[in-house]
Amino acid sequence: MEKVKALVLAGGRGTRLRPLTHTSAKQLVPIANKPVLYYGLEAIRDAGITSVGIITGDTGAEVRQAVGDGSRFGLDVTYISQDAPLGLAHCVLIAREFLADDPFVMYLGDNFLVGGISDLVGAFRRGGYDAQILLTKVAEPQFYGVAELGPAGEIVALQEKPVDPRSDLAIVGVYSFSPAIHEAVRAIRPSARGELEITDAIQWLIERGRSVQSHMVSGYWKDTGRLQDLLECNRMVLEAVEPANRGTVDGLSEITGRVVIEPGAVVENSVLRGPVVVGADAKIQSSYVGPFTSIGPRCVIQDAEVEYSIVLDDSSIHGISRLAHSLIGRNVEVSRADGTPNTYGLMVGDHSRIQVRA
Ligand code: TTP
Repeated sequence: MEKVKALVLAGGRGTRLRPLTHTSAKQLVPIANKPVLYYGLEAIRDAGITSVGIITGDTGAEVRQAVGDGSRFGLDVTYISQDAPLGLAHCVLIAREFLADDPFVMYLGDNFLVGGISDLVGAFRRGGYDAQILLTKVAEPQFYGVAELGPAGEIVALQEKPVDPRSDLAIVGVYSFSPAIHEAVRAIRPSARGELEITDAIQWLIERGRSVQSHMVSGYWKDTGRLQDLLECNRMVLEAVEPANRGTVDGLSEITGRVVIEPGAVVENSVLRGPVVVGADAKIQSSYVGPFTSIGPRCVIQDAEVEYSIVLDDSSIHGISRLAHSLIGRNVEVSRADGTPNTYGLMVGDHSRIQVRA
């Protein structure tokens, strides 16, 4: 079989992660202090793929800055800019020249798969299918694209967020295609939400008798587009980190469990209960950092308690107890309003979400 390429989708709107996605690409939100997109690129490389096209949108400059020419990952990256997020099938349409007539894996840049993609790429290479979609059992199929399977695991039909799902098998954001998909994405029309849907393109192949196969996810999978899923993913990755202290911890501090402290970070008079990562040059003073927390580079946590949260670069948390289930953006300040009881003082960006004590 010809060389398999990868098409990574890193455009889109990211409405569900506003306000972070007003200024930043959702694919670059860090999981255990590493952008989610990097995990995907590493999985692609580990599957033996080197030629990667990355679709970018409004946040293209930031994605290019973060990934560069791909050589750091052992990849050869070509950027393809999409003027507007017109759908997953639209991404295939505009990548025609890059993809040429090679088979390819399409990877949604905000999806996170534990266990990599080598298995599914191997199955696709061996099978010679026109399309292979990745599936996983979910509790609430009505929120996903859902697949109905035939006896040999072939796809009989696809439903997009069905009111009445015919199976509990959700479509995961990694697809494999032969060049037959190009005719399909040209033939379909935009859906009711105005997007060229990849499910419609695959359905088009099915109706023409092309071979569309399924592959079950072997490990853990999450779409990190929502806060809850992002925190869960962070938890999963932190559970497996190798503890390491590359910073400075004073004698008054207590560190337990899996804790990574990056170079230049300082921990004073604090309790860190892992799994936790503390980014480079961060400062933790007289504070408690509890399980499943990622503290970004150069953050300052002072007289505060934080757990089950992600705090991005250069933010500070002062005098707060206790912050949990939270995603804090870059350069954010969270502090106590001294001298004004029962008062919250807020300066918050558009589309933010704040939950305060009742
Ligand atoms: P989605 O999560 O389906 O869409 P979105 O990014 O617009 O997010 P939201 O629903 O929160 O508004 O997109 C899946 C991935 O594909 C994501 O990494 C963004 C990317 N994408 C593109 O690159 N171009 C597109 O036209 C679309 C729809 C998505």
